[in-house]
Amino acid sequence: MLRPAAVALGLLAALVAGCGSEARTPSGAGSVENGKTLFTGDGQCGACHTLADAGTRSEIGPNLDEAFAPLWEQGFDESTVRDVVHGQILYPTQNPAGVDDEGRALPGMPANLVTGQDAVDVAAYVASVAGRAEDGAPPEATGAEAIFTQRCGSCHTLAAANTAGTIGPSLDQLSPDAERVERAMREGPGQMPSFEGQLSDEDIEAVAKYVADN
Ligand code: HEC
Ligand code: HEC
Repeated sequence: MLRPAAVALGLLAALVAGCGSEARTPSGAGSVENGKTLFTGDGQCGACHTLADAGTRSEIGPNLDEAFAPLWEQGFDESTVRDVVHGQILYPTQNPAGVDDEGRALPGMPANLVTGQDAVDVAAYVASVAGRAEDGAPPEATGAEAIFTQRCGSCHTLAAANTAGTIGPSLDQLSPDAERVERAMREGPGQMPSFEGQLSDEDIEAVAKYVADN
């Protein structure tokens, strides 16, 4: 498993050493509202990161609340944290571990998901909330549709769940049977993470049935 705090501190060290100097956030705090909208957009940051304030929950990338909490404890100011996030958006570091618990390659973070002022805004938003929530990550969803919306919808379109993700195939078009959905959830084909061990067998079966029925 990644040690998120170590990653954040590593990024910070690179920044302080000047490697990230091109990524300096332009002056001005940026629009936090626009940043939040972008963060939670389809296939955006929330598809891969847990962030309590945004209500997103994914284990593909580090949990941003856990990653940034130590920086506040150490007294870093918000503009420094903005620089760290902005630098990561422009120049994502390669995941140092590179593999998950089962030894499978992890998808990296794509560069420039957002650019220009939008990247500044997302950085401002993340710096204003990450690691600062009192109550930690949002509660895990229960019920097949809620699980689908929270865990799958950012990558997959499914009209019944009102999701419009485009990273993976549209499940309306694919119209898979439950067995095929279950296999995908357990194996995690291509860029899709495996949900084996992340969701209970019961939840995997319920989500598979839900997708097949809709
Ligand atoms: C496809 C999945 C994916 C998306 C989308 C994504 N990330 Fe990441 N992110 C990762 C992974 C994997 C890592 C860890 C490896 C790395 O640092 O590149 C990471 C690392 C980070 C880190 C460093 C965390 C730490 O522990 O220091 C930050 C900050 C971050 N992402 C912010 C963002 C923001 C902001 C967005 C949206 C613009 C975003 N990510 C979109 C997968 C993603
Ligand atoms: C980070 C993005 C992402 C997430 C999250 C994700 N998927 Fe996928 N999914 C993909 C991609 C990409 C593919 C295509 C993989 C390939 O074949 O290369 C895929 C493929 C599939 C397939 C088709 C497999 C086949 O047999 O062709 C199904 C069904 C599926 N996903 C269901 C789900 C369900 C259910 C969830 C939530 C529990 C989920 N996905 C979460 C990205 C994602």
